[in-house]
Amino acid sequence: MLDKTKKDWWKSAVAYQIYPKSFQDTTGSGTGDLQGIIRRLDYLKTLGVDVLWLSPVFASPQVDNGYDISDYRAIDPMFGTLEDMRELIAEGKKRGIGIMLDLVLNHSSNQHHWFLEAKKSKDNPYHDYYVWRDGTPDTPPNDMKACFGGSAWEWVPEVGQYYFHQFAPEQPDLNWENPAVRREIYDMILWWMEQGVEGFRLDVIDQIAKEPDKGITGNGPRLHEFLRELSANTFQKGCLVTVGEAWGADTERAKLYSAPDGSELSMVFQFEQMMLDQQKGKGKWDLASLPFVEMKKSYAKWQKELHGAGWNSLFLNNHDLPRIVSRWGDDTGYREMSAKALATMLHGMQGMPYIYQGEELGMTNVCWPIEKYRDLETLNMYHERKAQGVPEEEIMRSIHVKGRDNARTPMQWDDSTHAGFTTGTPWIDVNENYHSIHAKAALENPDSVFYYYQKLIALRKQYPVFVFGDFRLLEENHPQLFVYERSFEGEKLLIVCNMSGQEVSYALPQDWQDSEVLIANAEGGLNGIFSPWQAMVLHKKNA
Ligand code: GLC
Repeated sequence: MLDKTKKDWWKSAVAYQIYPKSFQDTTGSGTGDLQGIIRRLDYLKTLGVDVLWLSPVFASPQVDNGYDISDYRAIDPMFGTLEDMRELIAEGKKRGIGIMLDLVLNHSSNQHHWFLEAKKSKDNPYHDYYVWRDGTPDTPPNDMKACFGGSAWEWVPEVGQYYFHQFAPEQPDLNWENPAVRREIYDMILWWMEQGVEGFRLDVIDQIAKEPDKGITGNGPRLHEFLRELSANTFQKGCLVTVGEAWGADTERAKLYSAPDGSELSMVFQFEQMMLDQQKGKGKWDLASLPFVEMKKSYAKWQKELHGAGWNSLFLNNHDLPRIVSRWGDDTGYREMSAKALATMLHGMQGMPYIYQGEELGMTNVCWPIEKYRDLETLNMYHERKAQGVPEEEIMRSIHVKGRDNARTPMQWDDSTHAGFTTGTPWIDVNENYHSIHAKAALENPDSVFYYYQKLIALRKQYPVFVFGDFRLLEENHPQLFVYERSFEGEKLLIVCNMSGQEVSYALPQDWQDSEVLIANAEGGLNGIFSPWQAMVLHKKNA
């Protein structure tokens, strides 16, 4: 177990993201709950993770599956009670697993009592908790668009003003310019810290310092000032791990966010690599193939730039992204091999790895007709593009490749009805392939993707070079291989991954010929032939 009283304990940690709604139901309601997470803690302990990031479980009307919070100090009854949360925290601690809560601080739900008050009148004390502008019913303050479609401005006749929302109208933006809002947030975070949580993930944190009059959403001028104030008033009073979601972060900004002095956060989720397989300058629905060489260079840049100057997060999946084995791997011919190759590619790097539920089983995307989807973003996009005359087939292709529900189908525990997720009717269908892809089978098979992840996690704990080593990209322009070296105090790793479905000949560098294989997803490779999706990590000392 990690010593979590030490500052920076999280540098050796591995996190696991749970989407509580789809993890484990214990009541037959069809949605997962906190007791379900408690029930599965031993499974997670077996995997070896140290931190559980839970997507929001706070009270919420669930317009955006909990990313619309109506009470930051209450648990949504759908998930259980505050007592269940306390039990989860305590049971997690017994197993060396900390709870990381997902704080949505850029906006609240329109059902939060702050907003219900705010929209009553301009002189209500809560009015200024949100971002209001004058206008007339048919002329919004400007033409800014919301991320989930439509205008970013919503008219409220009672006050004769518009409020600003970067996401759905039910998610009004909080006004961070107002010190009272910031104080409320700090008090709430301190309260959660007292409950024993060990970390926070901060939703769309790069969007809090918006300046709508100038069209600014992300990376506003006061962003880092706000973060430093937030951190000093809260996180720095404990030994927490914090990660901000920052779609707009480049390496320079990431160094501010994750400055080694701890003045802001521990790290951010940046999305540079995740945005490479979309058409340049367009959104995620405009598909393009992955520029592999560019992807390697992008990883190399982040690894190098943040080494000694910040900290990376490492992830290939989350609740907003499609399943990586379907996206960059091969979920038909080489599902397990490619899942392991992707894991090797990522877990060999420096940073904190985040595994998303089911990734350790090689869970895949779904390919459904529109009626089966539940995600607001997906459905809004579908209707918007339909109205623009985009052919159904093209829209559905984008959804099958990139839709968020790919990641949100229930966790596949076994091959019983609904994959052991619920005894009721699941809120969203289970992926049909649960008959063959499930945790029970993985636990019975020593060669499973699950045990491969388990080993990668264990290696990180065993060899400091995984945590502290520097990074050097080899074979930069090779179109199929991802090869890199790590070194730290005389220890070295060589990571070689064939990221393609073709056999590739590659002779290991001379000085690596007699090294030890720490992990590999197939035999061979040392003789110069890498089979499709073959991956390995080599190790040597005193180099
Ligand atoms: C983040 C969340 C996403 C949510 C959005 C609005 O991007 O990850 O799920 O819809 O913020 O809160």
